[in-house]
Amino acid sequence: MYVQNANASDRKPVTVPGLRAMKAEGRRIVMLTAYDASFAWQLEAAGVDVALVGDSLGMVVQGLRSTLSVTLDHMVYHTSIVARGLQATLLVADLPFMADRDLPHMLEAGARLVGEGGAAMVKVEGAASHILEGIEALVTRAIPVCAHLGLTPQSVNKFGGFRIQGREESAAERLLDQARAVEAAGADLIVLEGIPTALGKRITEAVSVPTIGIGAGPHCDGQVLVLHDMLGVTPGKRPKFSKDFLAGRDSVAAAIAAYVHDVRDGSFPGPEHGFN
Ligand code: KIV
Repeated sequence: MYVQNANASDRKPVTVPGLRAMKAEGRRIVMLTAYDASFAWQLEAAGVDVALVGDSLGMVVQGLRSTLSVTLDHMVYHTSIVARGLQATLLVADLPFMADRDLPHMLEAGARLVGEGGAAMVKVEGAASHILEGIEALVTRAIPVCAHLGLTPQSVNKFGGFRIQGREESAAERLLDQARAVEAAGADLIVLEGIPTALGKRITEAVSVPTIGIGAGPHCDGQVLVLHDMLGVTPGKRPKFSKDFLAGRDSVAAAIAAYVHDVRDGSFPGPEHGFN
């Protein structure tokens, strides 16, 4: 069955400059992960602003314990099939583990995710000096970048697990500096993951780039969740920062619509989803 464009929508396309305008106007940005065309259609139909093909696919699609085994080929493939389900929704794709090891690899990965995958933006984790250099190089070559700070899953072994970051004042200051550094390098979006609510607020106020929180409290300019977590289908315990939007609803479409609604009106995340 050939179903491309089955969801033809008349939504205005979400653009990279448009995200900054949303921050400036105080309109919350709704981001959600997707890994295939069928769910991408659901995001598109529900009015999600940004679809993220996260390397979380290693955990929720491939059944692995971390994101570290996901390859660039996996990312390009999943990005390309998600792209088929989208029209107005902006598509962001992750650079997988070690695709950022040096500038040539980073540029190659960015070029493939955009050229073959159809992404409009790529996401990179951390703010080490080679990452900042890479952000600058990608942006200079017209590849917009989403930075990802805080509990960056590709650093799980360095952190000793999926641990909340930025709890002590010195660590909070470091994350604040990193946010300013990725902004200066040219990032157009910053995902803040697994940090105290108060720090999410401080960073969001300190930068002009929109921030998207996941376990970073309600004060970010937008929110992202892993699709399988918010549909309650991830095996094991649901992360504290997530919510099962399918519980009490009768369809995936209704669950995603509720997520869009609750992020836009600020009712998700609630205080119970944050860290102090
Ligand atoms: O890989 C992913 O899905 C992510 C989100 C958790 C932000 O990076």
